[in-house]
Amino acid sequence: MIRAMAPDDIPQVQSIALAVNKGEAYDLRSFLGACLAQKPDLCLVAEDGGETVGVAIGGQVGTLGMVDLLAVAPSRQGTGIGNQLMDELSRRCRERGVKRLVVLVSSASSGFYRALGFEADEDLKFMSKRI
Ligand SMILES: CC(C)(COP(=O)(O)OP(=O)(O)OC[C@H]1O[C@@H](n2cnc3c(N)ncnc32)[C@H](O)[C@@H]1OP(=O)(O)O)[C@@H](O)C(=O)NCCC(=O)NCCS
Repeated sequence: MIRAMAPDDIPQVQSIALAVNKGEAYDLRSFLGACLAQKPDLCLVAEDGGETVGVAIGGQVGTLGMVDLLAVAPSRQGTGIGNQLMDELSRRCRERGVKRLVVLVSSASSGFYRALGFEADEDLKFMSKRI
């Protein structure tokens, strides 16, 4: 079941994010709290048997939508949960007037997004700088 995220979901969402990030320590709690306060309709979790097993958070700038966070618990990956989360996030973004959804993909996740119909945009490149 895909539903809106609640403050009580934050600890489980944090552990899913840590698990998919191979244990690298990063703290999402303040980010998740801010997302819930600012755009609760774009904060989703997947729940199964009372357990939170996935998360999707979107963002919006005008007609452009962004996937800010998408993660499925490792033991549940490959069972359609990521697809369901993206379906619902896309629906809610469309309702807000979003025309194009963009996402930063890794080599590990690009196959998933291709399966959902996303295409590499040759004109957009990701750049970064340590500051
Ligand atoms: C990427 C991720 C969100 C996908 O969620 P998931 O629940 O495992 O994916 P689903 O089971 O819903 O798969 C949906 C479709 O994508 C395909 N797919 C999933 N992972 C894939 C991969 N790595 N390569 C190619 N195709 C893939 C599935 O076969 C399925 O296709 P189908 O509908 O034609 O059968 C999840 O694996 C994850 O959390 N990974 C680690 C974190 C991450 O990379 N997040 C994204 C960063 S932006």
